[in-house]
Amino acid sequence: MANEIIITIDGTSSTGKSTLAKRIAKKLGYIYIDSGAMYRALTYYAISNNLISKDFIDKKALINDLSKLEIDFRKISLNDNLEIHLNGFPVESKIRSLKVSDLVSQLAAINEVRTHMVKIQHSLGKNKGVVMDGRDIGTVVFPNAELKFFLEASAKLRAERRFNELKITDKGVSYGEVFDNINLRDTQDMNRSNSPLKKAPDAVLINTENMNLEEVENEILNHISIALPNSL
Ligand code: CDP
Repeated sequence: MANEIIITIDGTSSTGKSTLAKRIAKKLGYIYIDSGAMYRALTYYAISNNLISKDFIDKKALINDLSKLEIDFRKISLNDNLEIHLNGFPVESKIRSLKVSDLVSQLAAINEVRTHMVKIQHSLGKNKGVVMDGRDIGTVVFPNAELKFFLEASAKLRAERRFNELKITDKGVSYGEVFDNINLRDTQDMNRSNSPLKKAPDAVLINTENMNLEEVENEILNHISIALPNSL
């Protein structure tokens, strides 16, 4: 529709980006795109095909396979959000493991991988009406987005949040492993040369340390109602 915009939500892991982005998209009748799921789906593919492990990566084969892979978002049922698919199969349940989390940032630092993903992200946002979350959405993917948010919180709090989510599906996971993974990814994501994780100068910074999800959502909605009167 004519007045629809692009809203970007970037930030470190487990700051509530995806939950908030989903809720905001629903309120506005926008599409929600989880850009991290794309890098995770590729990592899941690479692990399944022995192209990556802790101390090995077959970069050449991975880059070669990129153009043959189908990474997209599809509706599973009429009321659902769009879900990540890899070569036509839903892979949401496979991509959140610590194994994928431990390797994803290594793969997300590869230039060809980023170019490929950004191309898909551009096509998903071409008609606007999108809330996209990630690391570089407000800086690189949609630098002209109308509204940008950047969420942050301490690594300790973020690891607690993520551990509480993960332990439901993965009984073997420890808090220490999750904390180490979050720190590792923060370092890798912030220090890569291509599209490092950083706040866009025009993004609204929200420190979620002492806020619950509703409070963060309300702050985001306040900004939206100023930028888009009558939209909510
Ligand atoms: O679930 P969590 O918030 O921890 O991460 P995610 O959004 O699923 O992203 C997983 C990883 O993908 C990040 O740690 C980054 O390495 C990479 N990523 C990226 O490089 N650029 C994006 N726009 C989104 C994710």
